[in-house]
Amino acid sequence: MKKLLCPSIMNLDTENLKEEVLRLDKAGVDIFHLDLMDGDFVPNFGMSLAEMAVVRRHTNKLLDVHMMVKDPIRYIQLMADTGIDIIYIHPEADPQPALTLQRIKDLGKKAGVVINPGTSLESIRALYPLIDYLMLMTVNPGFCGQLFLPWLENKIEQAVKEREPWGFPIVIDGGVDKHIMSRLSAKGVEGYVLGRLILFDQEETDYTKLISWMRTI
Ligand code: DX5
Ligand code: ZN
Repeated sequence: MKKLLCPSIMNLDTENLKEEVLRLDKAGVDIFHLDLMDGDFVPNFGMSLAEMAVVRRHTNKLLDVHMMVKDPIRYIQLMADTGIDIIYIHPEADPQPALTLQRIKDLGKKAGVVINPGTSLESIRALYPLIDYLMLMTVNPGFCGQLFLPWLENKIEQAVKEREPWGFPIVIDGGVDKHIMSRLSAKGVEGYVLGRLILFDQEETDYTKLISWMRTI
């Protein structure tokens, strides 16, 4: 099964955004992961729309947006207009997540659900028929470079089982390193947000080498 390797663009130095996007594209990543924050749902600000537009201009690969914002339905059209392909919403931040997911699909985009460490699978089970991608946060969202929370492994295993009839990929966001990628891949997880530990803080700085190495993990 091919892994979905999704570099987290918020980790990049914005001074060199264009060059870094070109390097990642050439290295063979699958999906560019863009973090959007409102300073309310999470206590930080993520990427700007202008930065997202730079990414869109310099790659034809899929872009996802991880919307860490309250009432995300307000910004779905804007994300579609920015050229995003996969739109992830937090159901914790949305009084009507089923409506928002349907709106995403009606715009011809892929609908993603992303849940916090403290949110249960039970609480989103009713949404499974609407989900194209399920992302599980393995850190509390808002900041780059935090450590993977190991107590979430049971939930990840359970998600892999539960999604079987639906078939949507499972993506892990937060603190992924080579050991975690190896262990979770063996358990059937396909997608990984690539942050500091596995991509940006490596001694090796050649993205092509790093991405090919990850395909073997
Ligand atoms: C955390 C973000 C992540 C983060 C991943 O709030 O959603 O996408 O940038 O990077 P690492 O794995 O370095 O935390
Ligand atoms: Zn993210």
